[in-house]
Amino acid sequence: MKKIYFLLLAFTVFWGFAGFAQKQTAIYPKEVWPDSDGNHIQAHGGGIIKIKKTYYWYGEQRRQGLDSNYRYVSCYASKDLINWEFKGDAFKSTKPDTAIKGHRWVLERPKVYYNSKTKKYVMYMHLDGGIRGSKNPYAYDFARVGVAISDKPTGPFNYVKSFRPLGKESRDIGQFIDDDGSAYLIFESRPDKGFYIASLSEDYLNVEKEVAFIKSPLEGGAIVHYENKYYAVGSALTGWNPNPNKVATAPSLSGPWSEFVDIAPAETKTYGSQSTMFVKVVGKKATTVIFLGDVWKPRTQWDSRYLWMPVEIGEGKLWLPEPKPWTIDVKSGRWNYLNK
Ligand code: GAL
Repeated sequence: MKKIYFLLLAFTVFWGFAGFAQKQTAIYPKEVWPDSDGNHIQAHGGGIIKIKKTYYWYGEQRRQGLDSNYRYVSCYASKDLINWEFKGDAFKSTKPDTAIKGHRWVLERPKVYYNSKTKKYVMYMHLDGGIRGSKNPYAYDFARVGVAISDKPTGPFNYVKSFRPLGKESRDIGQFIDDDGSAYLIFESRPDKGFYIASLSEDYLNVEKEVAFIKSPLEGGAIVHYENKYYAVGSALTGWNPNPNKVATAPSLSGPWSEFVDIAPAETKTYGSQSTMFVKVVGKKATTVIFLGDVWKPRTQWDSRYLWMPVEIGEGKLWLPEPKPWTIDVKSGRWNYLNK
């Protein structure tokens, strides 16, 4: 009898612990971020949308052991922005366009929009690689966006097409959904030395209209609308290496856009991260704007980290504080450092 009690006790303690170990209470910038299965989250260069009370995080799936013929987009779900459940690879594709030559093609920075009219989830992705005549085997000459579509947030997404938004070369893409629900694609265009903000067509399968062109050679474009201003953040064109990211502001999306200024002490190179997007949490008590950055590890991509930090924002100023563990309550919208 004693033995049974002991086993029962051991079992309860074990499960208690296992459950406890998987439940996260804070966000640790730049650390390994375990999902609910205990694996480091693989959603690099990602995008987040909120559907009812659930956040979906899509990103570049870069776990070890993937089939090198494919590129993958992962999907994670969360109700609190801290604990994320892996929902599988929402999109998986072999090279989608024969115009891309060779094996070194890339699918980067996927973003998903929900279209309430068509009830479809529409994924945008940066597709790139060498094309006929490219000299460099690692060339990013294709410079197009790809579009895939699904009935469900978790996929499977089916590939539709690729194109050059507004007929322009397009590399890093960003996603912006305004408070009124209107959806925009941000894309960097090297020949024009700047980035475009473009509205999506009614079905979201196309880019419709140029809303603004910000002439500054920046990528990793991220926008947030806070109080009566728009804030656009971008990173310099230094590939995987971090640089001092900068912000400009405007009274409306179409501008006029201010000069760019640093968002963090320049010497920290954005604390080793690169801008990807903003998430604005509008709670019952407060609104928190979170900067989502990638901390790339080019040689061990699966170990690339995330730098998520609430920013100091308002009256045309945006500042990324020094990263430290923090926590948020999405209901109230309030955040705190873990160790006060
Ligand atoms: C970065 C870009 C990444 C990836 C990388 C490749 O600047 O933001 O998404 O394209 O360059 O070097």
